Amino acid sequence: MGSVKNVVVGITGGIAAYKTIEVISRLKKLGYEVNVILTKNACEFVTPLTLETISNNPVITDMFNREVPWEVEHISLAHKADLFLIAPATANVIGKIANGIADDMLTTTILACTSKKLLAPAMNADMYANEAVQKNIQRVKELGFEIIGPESGMLACGDIGPGRMSEPEQIAAECERILSSKNDLEGKKIVVTAGPTIEKIDPVRHITNPSTGKMGYEIAKAARDRGADVVLVTGKVSLAKPSNMKVVEVSSTKEMLDAVLREYDDAYAVIKAAAPCDYKAKDIAEKKIKKADSNMVLELVRTEDIAKTLGQRKNGQKLIIFAAETNDLEKHAVEKCKAKNADMVVANDVTLEGAGFGTDTNIVKFIFPDGNIIKFDKMTKRQVAEKILDEI
Ligand SMILES: Cc1cc2nc3c(=O)[nH]c(=O)nc-3n(C[C@H](O)[C@H](O)[C@H](O)COP(=O)(O)O)c2cc1C
Repeated sequence: MGSVKNVVVGITGGIAAYKTIEVISRLKKLGYEVNVILTKNACEFVTPLTLETISNNPVITDMFNREVPWEVEHISLAHKADLFLIAPATANVIGKIANGIADDMLTTTILACTSKKLLAPAMNADMYANEAVQKNIQRVKELGFEIIGPESGMLACGDIGPGRMSEPEQIAAECERILSSKNDLEGKKIVVTAGPTIEKIDPVRHITNPSTGKMGYEIAKAARDRGADVVLVTGKVSLAKPSNMKVVEVSSTKEMLDAVLREYDDAYAVIKAAAPCDYKAKDIAEKKIKKADSNMVLELVRTEDIAKTLGQRKNGQKLIIFAAETNDLEKHAVEKCKAKNADMVVANDVTLEGAGFGTDTNIVKFIFPDGNIIKFDKMTKRQVAEKILDEI
């Protein structure tokens, strides 16, 4: 029994609380021990008796209950948790956590908990869109909380929009993913690049590409969750800054190269998932280029070749590079792997549906310098990230 992992499930006062009964049932079936803490308001939606029966443990609702055997319950539960889940997480509890408020058993326990934490927000779409709520969600992410959902759809109040708690199956799967994450990269420094670079033409114009950074950010988060010391070198993207890693923001390809080189010597691996521009304007105009009626020719020159530079300066580091191709994928990827002295190329045909820029999924092949190829079906970008880290 010593190896049974424990999930503390906090339930707050939202209509989705009834769905958490199924989350707990699924967690139990997956073999986890579950302890439940209800807020006072959650008891209006679900009963302690139901949760006690389903979790097979006493349910805690009151910080000052003298009937349970004496121990500092909020501290012992905080220590016991391998994962702390709050589902549903009301706007109220997210706001409290974001600000370190501990005025009941749930918020006090989570403040004392140093384990992994997952929130499943659920609320009315207008509440969710409220600037204060969005700021609080951003803050809890910075504090290291993971967030699942909310999903868009028809809400209990009749509104349509984002605010629905994720489905119990998804939440249980996310708990399992977090709890079963390996720690096989502990103490290893992994540098990940993500997003596009920007090359200026004049003060108001630039060259860039549609990379959203999703793939690189998923790799960085997966490496962090496997214990790595992650440095994420990122171009301008609209994704939330991931917690518990060093994030270096860059603009041009030259800045990206310099940032990676600063981290390179003691890196265990560099994973280049960014889409740096290959060309830049030969001269950046100091003033806005005036438009004329005639065509104009812009002379472009090569940007710094980040992969090639890293390949040349390799001193034991593992170098993984991405190749986005639109034709002759395998041929180009093998050539690229050799030319850049890389250990593996993650090749994706960006013309396929479900692959490439902006999608949540990707279809990749791993290509090695000896010509070996591993092909995968469509996977989420997180799954692709885990496969890459498995190879490392
Ligand atoms: C019927 C009903 C449904 C509610 N659903 C939600 C909800 O889905 N999300 C939310 O943030 N608040 C919801 N509320 C409001 C919360 O219950 C309220 O903000 C409360 O203070 C939350 O307390 P707690 O976070 O301590 O449980 C609902 C209230 C009522 C009466």
